[in-house]
Amino acid sequence: MPLNIAILASGNGSNAQAMMDKAAAGTLDVNIRLVVSNRQGAGVLDRARKVGLPHLVLDHTAWSDRAAYDGALAEVLRKSGAEVIALAGYMRLLSPCFLKAFEGRVINIHPALLPSFAGLHGGADALAYGVSISGCTVHFVEEQMDSGPVIIQAAVPVNAGEDIECLMERLHAMEHRIYPQALQWLAQGRITRAGRQVFLAPGNERRVRSDGDWFVWPPLEENF
Ligand code: GRF
Repeated sequence: MPLNIAILASGNGSNAQAMMDKAAAGTLDVNIRLVVSNRQGAGVLDRARKVGLPHLVLDHTAWSDRAAYDGALAEVLRKSGAEVIALAGYMRLLSPCFLKAFEGRVINIHPALLPSFAGLHGGADALAYGVSISGCTVHFVEEQMDSGPVIIQAAVPVNAGEDIECLMERLHAMEHRIYPQALQWLAQGRITRAGRQVFLAPGNERRVRSDGDWFVWPPLEENF
């Protein structure tokens, strides 16, 4: 049985597109029941239209406060039959009420290796800091921004002198792989949680060897 999901996005929607493409190709076992944007004209709406997915705009400026807006949003999502809510560039915090309604069923992608560089500009902040390894994270959503348990992370090396456009392009390319992967694990019922720990069944405990083919950037040279 495919997993019923809804996508919340405020902008371009390239992550949403990756989900749509993989679902259409049959490699991601989800049924995208609804795409919602809080912004009229968001690119994600065109993407949904093109592939014939149900989509709508709920313009947050038409509501008096966040809780009222989130209440309306939760109702629309509940009616869509979505079991999991995937945030894909959704630029608003979700209120406690909303998260309660979909407890443990809201996930997000962030363009940095959390818990470093949480916030609106994770990729740019990491670059400005001068990290040599950046990355992206898919995580469960909790009340505090970018704070929930991690499902999957990808490390992405930063090239010396690289500008933000170039880094974001490579981050996005990884995002488009790890986000559908996380959803597929959820669809397969392979993800469980114990507090902040997230487990993937069958076990992912024994895959990293102690002699270390770990990711180091810039790469280690001979004798090290
Ligand atoms: C991504 O970089 C994601 O990590 C962040 O918002 C951006 C959305 O990009 N949460 P897109 O709209 O999916 O292209």
